[in-house]
Amino acid sequence: MLSKHEKELLVIIWDKMSLIAEDIGSEALLRMFTVFPKTKTYFAHLDISPRSPHLLSHGKKIVLAIADGARNIDSLTTTLAPLSALHAYQLRIDPTNFKLLSHCLLVTLAAKMADEFTAVSHAATDKFLSAFSAVLAEKYR
Ligand code: HEM
Repeated sequence: MLSKHEKELLVIIWDKMSLIAEDIGSEALLRMFTVFPKTKTYFAHLDISPRSPHLLSHGKKIVLAIADGARNIDSLTTTLAPLSALHAYQLRIDPTNFKLLSHCLLVTLAAKMADEFTAVSHAATDKFLSAFSAVLAEKYR
């Protein structure tokens, strides 16, 4: 589904984003909480105000997990198995929410990367986040 070029591009993009993982992840989360307020219910036990330590550390975890996925794109199911089990069985996140966060991640990348976020990068990222989300939602089937 993803070409060799797209896979290489994704590793470059997410390695770069890993350097500013706190910023990218917390911005994406904040966008999700603002645009889709119901998503906040899952984080009632954390302080999710802008730039709070929890928001930054959780944002960082998300970006690093995605970067790890980008480096292991041909074995996403096994790479993400623990994360998938966590979201399905422990956290019980409704799978529709993965699309919401993916969208907010895409918007955040577009805002941060500006001209560097080309149509090719956009399409590759969109496909990758869909695949990533599908694996995270796999355990619900
Ligand atoms: C925890 C990644 C989507 C809610 C986590 C953790 C990671 C992660 C890496 C930490 C796991 C650990 O500590 O071992 C991701 C990725 C996502 C995603 C990459 C999608 C691309 C979502 C969505 C929601 C959600 C859509 C809810 C709307 C949570 C919650 C926790 C968590 C509540 C636990 C937070 C805590 O108590 O510290 N996620 N997640 N996640 N995730 Fe996700």
